[in-house]
Amino acid sequence: MGNRRDFIQKMGLGLLAPSFLSKLDQGSSIPLSEQSWEQIRELFPLQKSRIYLNNGTFGPSPKSVLEAVHQSFRETNETGVYGNPDSGRERIANFFGVKKSEISLTHNTTEGINIMAQGLPLQAGDEVIVTDHEHAGSAIPWLNRAHLDQIVLKVFQPANTQAKNLEIIKSLVTPKTRAIAIPHITCTTGTVFPIREISDFARKRGIFTAIDGAHGAGTVNLDLHELGCDFYAGCFHKWMLGPNGSGFLYVRQGMLDQLQAYQVGAKSEKSWKLTVEESEFGGYVETAHRYDYGTQSTPMHVGVVAAVDFHEEIGRERIEARIRELNDYLFEGLKQIEKLEILTPEERESRICVVSFRVPGMDYRDIASALSQKKIRIRGVHEANLNAIRVSTHIYNSETEIDFFLEEIKQIIS
Ligand SMILES: Cc1ncc(COP(=O)(O)O)c(C=O)c1O
Repeated sequence: MGNRRDFIQKMGLGLLAPSFLSKLDQGSSIPLSEQSWEQIRELFPLQKSRIYLNNGTFGPSPKSVLEAVHQSFRETNETGVYGNPDSGRERIANFFGVKKSEISLTHNTTEGINIMAQGLPLQAGDEVIVTDHEHAGSAIPWLNRAHLDQIVLKVFQPANTQAKNLEIIKSLVTPKTRAIAIPHITCTTGTVFPIREISDFARKRGIFTAIDGAHGAGTVNLDLHELGCDFYAGCFHKWMLGPNGSGFLYVRQGMLDQLQAYQVGAKSEKSWKLTVEESEFGGYVETAHRYDYGTQSTPMHVGVVAAVDFHEEIGRERIEARIRELNDYLFEGLKQIEKLEILTPEERESRICVVSFRVPGMDYRDIASALSQKKIRIRGVHEANLNAIRVSTHIYNSETEIDFFLEEIKQIIS
């Protein structure tokens, strides 16, 4: 009886899913059939009565991730063995092509951006290049640093090709430029910046590259060493489909002494002593672990590792290809609708997982609310006064859902 109940429970939680994933010829980049993507959709508990097109804000986890988190919460609380999230750090580092010592475990992208914005050695008058399409999670930490230390933010509007964006950034550099702090992929229009070229250009001039990678992990097949930036803050709760409240900060080897750690605690230090007789701070550990401290959530990190497994089981290249395929489908569909102005660049290298558009004469909030009544979830874009609708799709979406969305939007704006 117990076994049968276990079996039924496991079915419900998707624990039997790996048998399907294991048939997928892991590591292969051969595209999957529509039928396989339909089967993958079944691994998500995401309700089908709604159409979720807002992965850019939050990526719903597959059942295997949820079960890993639940199980770890149960285990830690039943046994009192609270575990060590550090065991996941190596797996995460491998996934991003870097060393364990280069990864700090954070709770979200914003935390990583704050560490970068606070920690860089900047003085009054120094210039930092940013876009006017920053998410609040990047804009506010940089505005805060500018406010505290009289740093000058050089703000530019992203263009619609990678070549133009590189040129704009180059043209903004002056002898006072100390950092380029831009998103890998903007939250507004999903514009993908050529981070490798920008990092290469910056490094030759001693300019720091502090990248907001909220939309990088889990979309592009990220290799942070190859990308070449100095710092990269990301999260697992968007495109990685991991648990909410889990993030990372990559600090390139050799950059530790450039990025001052301000928030520290247990394990940030090499050694310490604090007694009535003597007090001594023995310096920071020689790894990016110096930026994370205190109790971390083991269940969250178990969930992150399950998310990494999920991506690897399906195949990272396949996931990227599917995201691009759905993005093309959506982009082409939106292009057919008159009245509508697409803000996402058409250039393929400049987009991957988002299409944003606006309808002249209409307030984005009215469109969002009409879509919501149809149980379609998107995000409105208020940044830079864009007055736009952002549609972001992941592997659990389908062309059928996109078709439905396109029909609804046609009606709403007609
Ligand atoms: C480009 C960008 N940066 C930063 C953030 C903030 O991310 P988090 O919630 O992980 O701090 C977001 C969230 O949507 C984002 O889109």
